[in-house]
Amino acid sequence: MSKSYTIAVIKGDGTGPEVIREGRKVLQAVASLNQFKLDFIDFDLGGDRFLRTGETLPDSVLSELRTVDAIYLGAIGHPDVQPGVLEKGILLRLRFELDQYVNLRPVKLYPGTATPLKDKGPEEIDFVVVRENTEGFYVGAGGILKKGTADEIAVQESINTRKGVDRLLRYAFDYTVARDKGRKLTLCGKTNVLTYAWDLWMRAFEEISGEYPGVTVDYAHVDAICMWMVKNPEWFDVIATDNMFGDIITDLGAMIQGGMGIAAGGNICPHGVSMFEPIGGSAPKYTGKNVINPLACILAGSLMLETLGESRAAASVEAAVVTVLSEHLTGLEAGKMGHTTQEVGDLVAENLG
Ligand code: IPM
Ligand code: MN
Repeated sequence: MSKSYTIAVIKGDGTGPEVIREGRKVLQAVASLNQFKLDFIDFDLGGDRFLRTGETLPDSVLSELRTVDAIYLGAIGHPDVQPGVLEKGILLRLRFELDQYVNLRPVKLYPGTATPLKDKGPEEIDFVVVRENTEGFYVGAGGILKKGTADEIAVQESINTRKGVDRLLRYAFDYTVARDKGRKLTLCGKTNVLTYAWDLWMRAFEEISGEYPGVTVDYAHVDAICMWMVKNPEWFDVIATDNMFGDIITDLGAMIQGGMGIAAGGNICPHGVSMFEPIGGSAPKYTGKNVINPLACILAGSLMLETLGESRAAASVEAAVVTVLSEHLTGLEAGKMGHTTQEVGDLVAENLG
């Protein structure tokens, strides 16, 4: 009997449904070429459901999501919903509840893709950011006192646990070894100012590095890494960092790899259910126009296959994307691809080897 996987699909808001449609098309095609089955189950979560029912992520839905093999997410974010409600109520809650403690974000410039970096090409831009995904400022620790008065105090705390840091770093070291590119892991922090959190991170990094003699270790402050990512991106192989810094540097990473239209990520729980998403938002102004770039979502699908153990299928999706990029697309931005969203999905599906 052929293998089969149950995939929860959260199309979400804005252009989410359009990019998910193309992603599913490509995944179905590659599954049948590789003799495995994907059973997609749709989950209605996002701004529309919230506006209709007041629900973000009901417990019953969360229970169902715990039972699937992976989650494929379009985008969360709705112009009529106050910022933070959907992000915290759906996206962050899923990351936390499902213990997806790694946010894996490849920064890879594909051949045939323009980067804003002068004199840099696919040889120079190919690294992976391993972002902690369940701690730091994202925990929501802190509070506001005397709100709205002249004496108002706002405290926002970053939570860093030794267990949380250790497991993230171990994942990053293992990933660096498995990736087998430069076998170099760079820790990105702020040891010169955030002297509590980064003291813990640095001690953990130094201790764990002893278990990986084959990995070259390096450290860079987060501000400096923003500089190096632009000036010398070829220095990086794998970068490990905390939740907040990882959020920031991966937007920069997305830009140097060609933009949000191509940047994909995985929220990984190595012992449970992982979730894959294009890292750009819901891009509401392009909704329904058939102009949004589905490649980030398609590549998120490839990451999903890789994590499920279908490496051959994952590689063939990536290869098809490369073919489409170099032979068909005129650009990566919405409306500038020279093709519609749907045509780009068709082209990738047709080019699967
Ligand atoms: C991301 C996003 C989220 C984050 C937001 C939407 C909560 O920016 O996935 O990078 O900050 O993690
Ligand atoms: Mn972000």
